[in-house]
Amino acid sequence: MCGIVAYIGKKEAYPIIVKGLKRLEYRGYDSAGIALLNNNGLNIYKKQGKVSNLEDFTHDKDKMGYAGIGHTRWATHGPPNDVNSHPHSSEDGDIALIHNGIIENYDAIKQRLTNNGYKFKSDTDTEVLTYLIDDIKKNSSVSVAEAVRLALQQVVGAYAIVVISKSNPNQLVAARKSSPLVLGIGKENDFYLASDATPIVEYTKKVVYMEDEEIAIVDLDEGLKLYSIDDVEKTPYVQELELQLEALEKGGYEHFMLKEIHEQPRSIKDCFRGRLNAEKGWVSLGGIKDYEDKMTKANRIIMIACGTSWHAGLVGEYLFEDLARINVEVEYASEFRYRNPIINENDIVIAISQSGETADTLAALELAKSKGATILGICNVVGSSISRITDAGSYTHAGPEIGVASTKAFTAQVTVLTLMALSLAKIKGTINETKFRTMLSELEAIPQKVQQILDKNEDIKIISEKYQGASNALYLGRGSSFPVALEGALKLKEISYIHAEGYPAAEMKHGPIALIDEAMPVFVIATSGPSYEKLVSNIQEVKARKGKLIAIVTEGDEQVHEIADHTIDIPDTDEHLVPLLATIPLQLLSYHIAVMRNCNVDQPRNLAKSVTVE
Ligand code: F6R
Repeated sequence: MCGIVAYIGKKEAYPIIVKGLKRLEYRGYDSAGIALLNNNGLNIYKKQGKVSNLEDFTHDKDKMGYAGIGHTRWATHGPPNDVNSHPHSSEDGDIALIHNGIIENYDAIKQRLTNNGYKFKSDTDTEVLTYLIDDIKKNSSVSVAEAVRLALQQVVGAYAIVVISKSNPNQLVAARKSSPLVLGIGKENDFYLASDATPIVEYTKKVVYMEDEEIAIVDLDEGLKLYSIDDVEKTPYVQELELQLEALEKGGYEHFMLKEIHEQPRSIKDCFRGRLNAEKGWVSLGGIKDYEDKMTKANRIIMIACGTSWHAGLVGEYLFEDLARINVEVEYASEFRYRNPIINENDIVIAISQSGETADTLAALELAKSKGATILGICNVVGSSISRITDAGSYTHAGPEIGVASTKAFTAQVTVLTLMALSLAKIKGTINETKFRTMLSELEAIPQKVQQILDKNEDIKIISEKYQGASNALYLGRGSSFPVALEGALKLKEISYIHAEGYPAAEMKHGPIALIDEAMPVFVIATSGPSYEKLVSNIQEVKARKGKLIAIVTEGDEQVHEIADHTIDIPDTDEHLVPLLATIPLQLLSYHIAVMRNCNVDQPRNLAKSVTVE
């Protein structure tokens, strides 16, 4: 939520910052702004809307500067307009600041500063922090960096900030707490700062992931200095970035979402590469090896997550309980953290998060840690906050996911959960050797089966055409296909703005059935397996109310074929692995419907990919 980029060095800052902002636009696109420092002073340009609006608004003559800060906003305090856009500057125009996060005690600080004579132009908490730094700088006669440090000691909340100042033209000052910030060390004594590594990767691979309550000063003469908020100097831990530039481009696809849907045969394979060998009959997740014994003995495992990642957790619950006979609870991180949950040292808490930065998931994990639980992570973004605070974990290796709607990250999370469940089942002896080996072979075959479904894209597009005008939609599934129904509904609503609900198929008759008429598309996952007959009955109930039925069925199905308006065949697989296949047509249906409705699928309204505020 909100993306920040900054540069100082010998290059022109403007193109670096604008390109970086475009890479970070997934974090918010309510407005964009930039402050550039050159020998004539500090110039600020900001505009409501996307980064391209800012570019149109900035003339060539304005684009000069060896240092600058840029911001793309997801509005929290105050509506998206030019005035509330970042950067915010002090009244005398000496300092400008960009911020990702929320200053919770901004109101009290604002009152105090107002009493001291400050006049606020915007509704934002960020302007309050800017004025606070300015106030401290002037009244205590300290440097900008020291004023930043003292100001942050008064702040309650989350922040990643970068401050630029006319009176300190050789420096940028950056700090973070609970919002991510990566610092790139360039080859020519130049420095980059950004919310994630994507704006940095093409200039340098040497990065420092800043820790909570660290302040970095990057200086053209003195290089990088890192301090704690208590003013203790620290040694930066420089890491090598593994990110590849090509992963950040659309690669010929019309949208990142479509590219990421089509990447799934590869991303699922990357996820189990080196972790599974069907021929030799083993599965091994190196990252959690030392915790597997504890996991098998745990009374329960709690999975915490938000959104799509929470749906992956629900699939995990079926897998862990059925295969490894371990009791699992799946919790919304935002509810868990405020519920005074009963947790102790015997509990294992697994956080599932694509970004590894989701504020609620992070806070829930910290709560569990403070109560002595073992905390594990399943994250996609390497080096993210969650991956760093957990005791151990497994990366999903899906590669950068740029489309705001999560697709390949979901299937990768489900793949990791499947590997974990199989590994634990094997250790516990709750799965027999034949079943274990069959499942490993089936899992190895999943990427190729996903490809077979992707090859039906044109047929799925034709079905999508029929439902592009729908106002509501229902998604039904049973067993581990119930979370797939939830995920299908979320995908449709978030990118096409069609109201959609996911339900366990049998629950339909307890309420939602009242909604069904000839205008209601009902998407049902009706693959072969133990619940098939029950599903067929549910499907009949929909049909009897004239609902339009779109069913995901197993190849060779005849019964549902007869009843449904449309069927999409998926290859046969082990029932535990159905979510990995059944999700794919639902992703494609949502994608096509949203494109046909002229929606911005990669950047849906009001959303941001990395939700770093509560
Ligand atoms: C939906 C979506 C969100 C995220 C949620 C959690 O397509 O992307 O619901 O799943 O915001 O994000 P992470 O996984 O980064 O913690």
